[in-house]
Formats: sequence, structure tokens, C-alpha cells
Amino acid sequence: MLSEKYAKEIEGILARFPTKKSAALPLMHLAQTEYGNLTREAMTEVAGILDLDPTHILSLAGFYTLYHEEKVGRYVLEVCNDLACALRGADEFLEMASRKLDIPVEGTTNDGMFTLKGVMCLAACDRAPMLQCNLKFEENLNEEKFDALIARLRQEAADGKSAHPVVQKSISYAKAS
Ligand code: FES
Repeated sequence: MLSEKYAKEIEGILARFPTKKSAALPLMHLAQTEYGNLTREAMTEVAGILDLDPTHILSLAGFYTLYHEEKVGRYVLEVCNDLACALRGADEFLEMASRKLDIPVEGTTNDGMFTLKGVMCLAACDRAPMLQCNLKFEENLNEEKFDALIARLRQEAADGKSAHPVVQKSISYAKAS
């Protein structure tokens, strides 16, 4: 249970907002980091902490692409292939990434390491091809940089590093405050 395992972190997150409802997004990140994806049970749990109806959390999860209701890989690679990025080769880049990982777009590698997605504008149009990996931007990419990124992520996983450094940082910030 999140409320038991992360009692102090949740308290810290709630303290940063004027109302409980406003803390929905960070708590959803916490749940997703803990369970790997936002299951219905996880959303109900978050709703319970915030005294909200679960449908409110469900609607937020459906609206934001950063929340994954389906099972995803340890690293979610979201390549922007919206118009501006497409003009800078994003479609070809996404195709290359799909070939290298040997999965279709929206697919997950057999080892559960990577999920590949094509997404709408991430506001880094001048640095395409780019992708977002678990909240972290990787920009001005090419095939060589993509290979290096995949190798680095595999190494980080082998070393037992967190797959969600940004979320973890935010959780420890909440804990410290
Ligand atoms: S169109 Fe890709 S970041 Fe804006």
C-alpha cells in the first residue's frame, strides 16, 4: 500500500499543495513509479488518499500521456513525431528505433526493458529528433546517439539504478520538506 510504504513522502507532497485534489498528479507519478503502470487498483488507491472519486484520477490518467494504464517497459521512449519534428526526420528516427529494438511502435521489448511510442509535440521542436525517456528529454538524436542511449539505460538497469530519477528526486524533495 502506498499510504503505508510512502507515508512520509505522501505527507510531504500533500503539504506542498493548498488542497488535496491538487496533489493528484505527483501522487499518480508515485503510484506509477511503484507499480510500473497505473492499474485501476493503483488509481483507486490514489483516489482514496485524496478523498476523490476514482473516476477523477482515471480521467487525469486518460488525458496525460505520461501516465500509463497499460503495462509498459522499464523505460518508455516517447519519440515526438509531430509536424515540426517530422520535418527534422522524426518519422525516420522512429522507424530506426523500432527496427533497432525489434518492436513495433507502441510495442514493448520481450525483456520488459523498453516501450516505444510516437507522441505529439513535447515543446522541443528545434532539437528534433528528440524523445522523452521517463520524463527526461534526449535531444538532437541520431542513430549513433540512440545506440549509446540504449546501451546506457541497459547498463543503469544492470547497476540497479532507478528508472525514474526525476520522480525519485521529487519524492525525496517532498520527504525532506
Ligand atoms: S513538434 Fe516535436 S517537440 Fe514540438
